[in-house]
Amino acid sequence: NNDDLFLDDQSEPIKVVAPNPDPFAYQKAPFADCEHCPLVNQPCVPSYMPDGAILLAVGEAPGREEVATQQPFTGASGQLLDRVLAHAGLPLDRLAKTNAVLCRPESNATPPHAAVWACSKRLAHDLSTGPHTVLALGSVARDAVNEVLDGPMVVERGQWFTVGHFDILPAVHPAYVLRQPDAI
Ligand code: URA
Repeated sequence: NNDDLFLDDQSEPIKVVAPNPDPFAYQKAPFADCEHCPLVNQPCVPSYMPDGAILLAVGEAPGREEVATQQPFTGASGQLLDRVLAHAGLPLDRLAKTNAVLCRPESNATPPHAAVWACSKRLAHDLSTGPHTVLALGSVARDAVNEVLDGPMVVERGQWFTVGHFDILPAVHPAYVLRQPDAI
């Protein structure tokens, strides 16, 4: 259980910025391979892939805030990510966002590898249609991206690597920085 990674105050109501008519809608989409996924009964958050995006941020899994807003990285981690990237000069409307798994594990547990695997066809689709510069946030995202692209055996945090026409930077997950500000 890594509940504290998400730093949501469970007692606070979350502002819903987008109506969410069907939190399972994603599972009916093409590229969904949900039949054997352990997260099949959990609510999903689709990838956010705006036209003109130049950077794709890949996280681990959506949390409570993301389910409410139906957009990845809208909770505390996403706000930190936005601040850092905006400060680095990235216009935030050029940021695409997704996760290693699209559905929220109960209690924000680390998604089981079976779920990452079941979601990999979908991740491959997002990678092939989105920006080819990828920020892989945390080890789950790093391994999911690397596995889908069939990248090198060993990749290190903070070190760009290239697979085909993809440039990938594995970076520390913002939730980790929020929990341990001295870590960077
Ligand atoms: N929100 C996300 O969408 N992904 C994470 O990995 C963490 C928070």
